Amino acid sequence: MKKHFKGIVLLIAVMMFSIVASACSNTGGSGGGSVSVGIVLPTKDEPRWVQDEQRFKDALSGTKYTTEILFSQGSSAKEKENVETLLNKGIKVLIICPQDGDAAAAAVEAAKKDGVTVIAYDRLITSTDAVDYYVTFDSLAVGAAQAQYLIDNGTGKGQPLYLYAGAATDNNAFLFFQGAWEVLQPKIADGTFMIANSPEAEALKDTKDLSRDQMSSIIGQVTTNWDPNDAKNKAQTHLTSAAADMKGDVAILAPNDGTARSIADVFGSDSAVTNYVITGQDAEQASIQYILDGKQSMTVFKDVRTLVKDAMGMAVEVLDGKSPETTGSYNNGNVDVKAKQTDVIVVDKANVQKELIDSEYYKAEDFTGL
Ligand code: BGC
Repeated sequence: MKKHFKGIVLLIAVMMFSIVASACSNTGGSGGGSVSVGIVLPTKDEPRWVQDEQRFKDALSGTKYTTEILFSQGSSAKEKENVETLLNKGIKVLIICPQDGDAAAAAVEAAKKDGVTVIAYDRLITSTDAVDYYVTFDSLAVGAAQAQYLIDNGTGKGQPLYLYAGAATDNNAFLFFQGAWEVLQPKIADGTFMIANSPEAEALKDTKDLSRDQMSSIIGQVTTNWDPNDAKNKAQTHLTSAAADMKGDVAILAPNDGTARSIADVFGSDSAVTNYVITGQDAEQASIQYILDGKQSMTVFKDVRTLVKDAMGMAVEVLDGKSPETTGSYNNGNVDVKAKQTDVIVVDKANVQKELIDSEYYKAEDFTGL
């Protein structure tokens, strides 16, 4: 019933899209190459964003809706160039997931100047008033869920805890870490966990509410830059210098699936690490296989179909001259940006089937050992 309802809502959104889109291309634009909605995503090098591209394409297939998706390949300069390309094609709405939250300000300011409505997608664009809306998952809940999983599946006493974080240029990295820290900190303070790899975090172990600067100091020490190679190198360095009492049965806060797999590989190949529990996020296909194989403990599933639907729904409302519905706001260091937020789901071996296969996010044949 619920699934049908969602399907109908999506269908209506897509139909509205095509009507509005055809109206748009009839009434102006720049002729042949005209695009109504431009979408800019950070990089094709991470499966997470290729997932988003695919979900956008799925949602748009068979419609007359004119859209174009460009990737910034980890470069803010390329991102700005992408936005300019789309502005030249006459876009009315820009859906953008910034490579670097602060650096993207210049690109969206150029869009605003052209009268384009800017929707920040998944990652907030910071320190500018040129963002109209923000569609996002509940990122504090992502971190909190990861932390809670470590507590629920830990040894309960004096367990070594390795902390890792995302890129400091991504506002989400702060939200994930903050959400995790708020849950972990009391368990660090009471001796359930011993921090193994961050003197900065150790020094702040009695502080539950960290300031942005305090978080920066920890993230600076344990960042993966969202790069599996950086993550691997950091994990190797940490294990090389870890004392014997920081090995054995350990807990690892890994910020996302791409970094979790490479950190897990490093910990899994150290014979002094007898067992580990490790978090992740994104429900990447490769990590679901890792979970089934017992190499990654959990992931936080963020149903990209919902985020795509929300972003598209907002774009349609804007093109239709209406004000999109929002559920809250996020301060970006300059203004409160109206936001629509989506819940997340914890997935481990026990519920892969229900959450990812039965919900048709993935096909059973994509995996072995289900
Ligand atoms: C996203 C995550 C992603 C990470 C690295 C974050 O902003 O929310 O889903 O894993 O960036 O790309």
